[in-house]
Amino acid sequence: MNKRRRNQMRRSLLIGWTALFLTAAPAGWAVDAARLYGDKCAPCHGGGGQGTQTAPPHKGNPFITQGEPEAIKEVILKGRQGAEKKYPDIPIEMPGGLVTEKQAEALVGYMKGALQTSEEGFLRGRCAPGEHRGRHCDRRGMR
Ligand code: HEC
Repeated sequence: MNKRRRNQMRRSLLIGWTALFLTAAPAGWAVDAARLYGDKCAPCHGGGGQGTQTAPPHKGNPFITQGEPEAIKEVILKGRQGAEKKYPDIPIEMPGGLVTEKQAEALVGYMKGALQTSEEGFLRGRCAPGEHRGRHCDRRGMR
């Protein structure tokens, strides 16, 4: 292998490690929205945001896909109860106070983005109650 090629390899290794660091590092301190969704929202809304008998879908829901981020965030923070309720067929209310403001912002991004297309949230969230271990949960989980 000549020197130029070796340098090239070194450089791409460096770039590789940097990329790995940058993608792995935030997990500790930034909000892992997918996991948060799986833990706090999936029990009612379904792991892939497909909706359940107790909560409306988020996937393909225009309120999510086209709605103002601020409006979505407000529902996440405050919930939706009583006269505010939009889905009379769903017997329960959307509880407020489930997450912090930062988490709510991250969730809005996740719900408008990855949740709309990815299967991962679907798998992640399908855990039986008390069994919230992300990827380990499978389709036998709750619906
Ligand atoms: C206890 C069950 C429950 C949990 C947990 C829950 N929700 Fe809800 N959510 C509901 C119900 C019920 C509604 C519909 C309320 C209504 O009739 O307007 C709703 C509505 C919403 C809406 C508005 C949808 C629309 O079409 O107007 C958003 C956004 C939302 N939830 C986000 C979340 C997020 C994000 C989480 C997790 C942090 C979460 N919810 C957790 C029950 C739940």
